[in-house]
Parts: sequence; C-alpha cells; structure tokens
Amino acid sequence: MATTIALITGANKGIGLETAHQLGARGVTVLAGARDEALGRQAETALRQGGADARFVPLDVTSEKSVRQAADWIEKEYGRLDILVNNAGIARGGPPSETDLDAMREVYETNVFGVIMVTNAMLPMLRRAPAPRIVNVSSEVGSITSMTDPASPLAQMPAGLAYPSSKSALNMITAMYAKELRDTPVKVNAANPGYTATDLNRHSGFRSVAEGAEASVHLATLPADGPSGILWGHLWTADADAYGPLPW
Ligand SMILES: NC(=O)c1ccc[n+]([C@@H]2O[C@H](COP(=O)([O-])OP(=O)(O)OC[C@H]3O[C@@H](n4cnc5c(N)ncnc54)[C@H](OP(=O)(O)O)[C@@H]3O)[C@@H](O)[C@H]2O)c1
Repeated sequence: MATTIALITGANKGIGLETAHQLGARGVTVLAGARDEALGRQAETALRQGGADARFVPLDVTSEKSVRQAADWIEKEYGRLDILVNNAGIARGGPPSETDLDAMREVYETNVFGVIMVTNAMLPMLRRAPAPRIVNVSSEVGSITSMTDPASPLAQMPAGLAYPSSKSALNMITAMYAKELRDTPVKVNAANPGYTATDLNRHSGFRSVAEGAEASVHLATLPADGPSGILWGHLWTADADAYGPLPW
C-alpha cells in the first residue's frame, strides 16, 4: 500500500508538532513545515526519534516564494499529497476600538491569506491523491454562535478583533472550499483544538497539546463517508467538555 503523505504547516512546536507526532504514529509520512530552518530541523529530529517518518520542509505561509518552493519540492519528491493541515497561526490584537490595522493585517496574512495561498499551491497534488483531506486549524473563538451565546464561557471573554475575526473568515473559507470540491473526494474541514497550553497563549490554555491535536488528526484521517465543510473539535462550555461537530 502507498504511504500517506501529510504536510503540516507550523509544525515546529505546539499543536502542529503534536499533530505531526500523532499522524506519524499512525504510519503517515509527515512533512513538517516550519519557517525557521533550525527549529524545523529540531522538529524533524524529535519526530524521527518518536518513530515517525518525518521530513522538514521550509515553509513560511506568508511568502509566495516559500510556498511555491515547498510545493515544487513535494511535487518532485512525492508527486502527490494526501493530507494538508493548515495549522500555522498567530494571535495579536486588542479591543475593536483600539485596533492597530498593521497588526490586524499581519494576523490575516498568516491565518487567512496564508491558508488560501498554501491550499491553492497544494491542491493540484491533493487532487491526485485517492482520499485527500484538508484541515484548517480554526478556533471556537471564530464561531459567531459560540462567541455570542450568553451561556457560553466564550461570551465572557474580552472582545478582541484580529484573531477571532480571522478564524471566522477561515471558517467561511473552509465552507466555500468544501462547496467547490463537494463532487470530488477532497474533504475540507475546520478543526477547533480548544483552549490549549501553547506559546500562542503563553501556556494559559487548560488543554494539553495531545488533546488540542485530536481534532486535526480526526479530520485528517476521515473515512470516505466522513463529512466535509464542518467545524469539529473541543468546545468550551459552561458545564462540561463537548467534543464533536460545532456551530459556525
Ligand atoms: N492554543 C490554543 O488554545 C488554540 C486554540 C484554537 C486554535 N488554535 C490554533 O492552532 C494553531 C496552532 O497554534 P498553537 O497554539 O500550537 O501556537 P504556537 O505554539 O504558537 O504555534 C504556532 C505555529 O505556527 C507557526 N507560524 C506562525 N506564523 C507562521 C508563518 N508565517 N509561516 C509558517 N509558520 C508560521 C509558528 O512558527 P514559529 O515558531 O516560527 O513562530 C508555530 O510553529 C493556530 O492556527 C492557532 O490559531 C490554537
């Protein structure tokens, strides 16, 4: 049987590195995208030490040149791609009334435009795979339903603009790719890791990275009759932990 090949962006640490570990443990060849060469090599070594068939791929999702070079390299080495996990993301910003547009543009370059650029560069190779899966790592804070539900702990969070709205945009982007590709075997879904302890939130999250990566791994390995165009994962609720399909 041919190996399954997965590209994970922002795989040098946090949820991305853990997603690569978990996919590697399932026998998937993991291409660990990282924008910093030294950090990418370190991740490759850690993944290999953990038993994964892993290779570092230089990839800055905001650089057209870097994305093109990564796509060309995957094309030359493998000729196809089975799984794309758009995991790279950044968080910045404060209340809407104090929005620094440069900071907001920076967030959108990575969390929104980067995802589109990487997806479109990889799509020709994904289309050649028998069961292609695209996972966009989103967030429950991008869910307008959850963020405005008075019963949700998310509604109690201070109002931010750049990061939550970038994830709302990513949710719609996910739904629209799924719509365009609905008559193909390509499944496109958004993952919500839940509030996970990583550098992104100075480790204030209450979930482990093992838990945070679960949704991405689940969506990356969906069977042929699995869904496309959904948001899935861990949801922070007032009484209990929810895990499954989530409201947009
Ligand atoms: N942690 C949470 O509670 C939480 C909750 C919901 C969703 N998420 C999402 O989960 C994803 C992973 O976040 P995390 O919590 O694991 O954060 P993290 O530990 O800060 O990791 C973020 C990763 O993205 C990479 N990255 C940032 N900009 C990049 C770029 N331009 N090109 C390539 N890679 C880039 C980082 O690389 P460098 O090391 O070079 O900066 C790092 O590898 C993000 O999309 C985030 O929005 C996180």
